[in-house]
Amino acid sequence: MITGGNSGIGFATAGKLAAKGFHVILASRNQQTSAQAIERICAGNPSASVESIPLDLASFAAVRQCVATFQAKGYPLHLLINNAGGSVAGQQASFTADGFEMTFGTNHLGHFLLTNLLLDNLKQSAPARVITVSSQKHVPGYGGKGAPDFDYDNLKGEKYYDTQVFYRNSKLANMWFAYELQRRLAGTGVTSNAVCPGFVPEAIGNRRTSALDRLMYKQILPRMPFARSLEQASSSYMVAATDPRYESVGGKFIVDGKETPSSDESYDEEKARRLWEMSCEWCGLGNGAS
Ligand SMILES: NC(=O)c1ccc[n+]([C@@H]2O[C@H](COP(=O)([O-])OP(=O)(O)OC[C@H]3O[C@@H](n4cnc5c(N)ncnc54)[C@H](OP(=O)(O)O)[C@@H]3O)[C@@H](O)[C@H]2O)c1
Repeated sequence: MITGGNSGIGFATAGKLAAKGFHVILASRNQQTSAQAIERICAGNPSASVESIPLDLASFAAVRQCVATFQAKGYPLHLLINNAGGSVAGQQASFTADGFEMTFGTNHLGHFLLTNLLLDNLKQSAPARVITVSSQKHVPGYGGKGAPDFDYDNLKGEKYYDTQVFYRNSKLANMWFAYELQRRLAGTGVTSNAVCPGFVPEAIGNRRTSALDRLMYKQILPRMPFARSLEQASSSYMVAATDPRYESVGGKFIVDGKETPSSDESYDEEKARRLWEMSCEWCGLGNGAS
């Protein structure tokens, strides 16, 4: 199962997984776009096995419904890629159906609930893997000025709102989640790793509406040496998803297909545990993975 597999890096990865013989489930909020995505994957590979299940990560009820739909199918689950998300455009915070700031709610909380509800499926299907897509932007100063500022008293923008800071916070939360999940899954045959696809202007450009932005992201930036193509970015996911090493090794941050140190703060186990416990409370879960 891959979240946000209709477009961008998720779509490129879904195509590669299907080509490797996986039965791929696109968990996505737009079933019409999913149908088109499935058509495109099957056009390039007639033996591809792909279907979609509705999922809106910005609603706990929709996440629960997605899991119920999946579980009713009786499939095993060998791979969950928590890929969907991004940052919210604009200067104003927006909120999920449950009242959480949209970037944090979608990128972290939606995936936190989804993964926890699917843990029994993953364990019963072991060996299995969970891959959470973070970003090097969780590292202070990476990609220009700016750093995460993870403040429990400002999670809903009570003190200030900055779309970039909230994106960085959500990606730090993804790191804490991936590492804490690995600690909690020890001995189960399920691994948890985080990945960063690198800077992929083409995926960003698809969302831009101004002609100048599209020119910049689709034509100019992709030529820069620091940019990654959809092909390169999805290859990074594929390393985490299919390299035999990550069947038994978890708790790593994989960038450009290589294990890379993440920020000092991301290794803070106390902070990771606190976020886990708070997330359980917010999502209405007991203790999540024990
Ligand atoms: N592009 C980069 O340079 C870059 C760098 C580092 C990390 N990343 C990360 O890579 C991942 C994929 O991003 P991308 O660049 O491929 O962008 P993208 O093409 O915009 O993909 C994002 C996907 O997330 C889905 N999504 C957003 N909100 C959702 C929700 N509430 N429920 C369900 N699905 C939702 C979108 O679905 P819709 O089609 O319905 O909108 C879309 O399919 C993200 O986690 C992003 O943060 C990207």
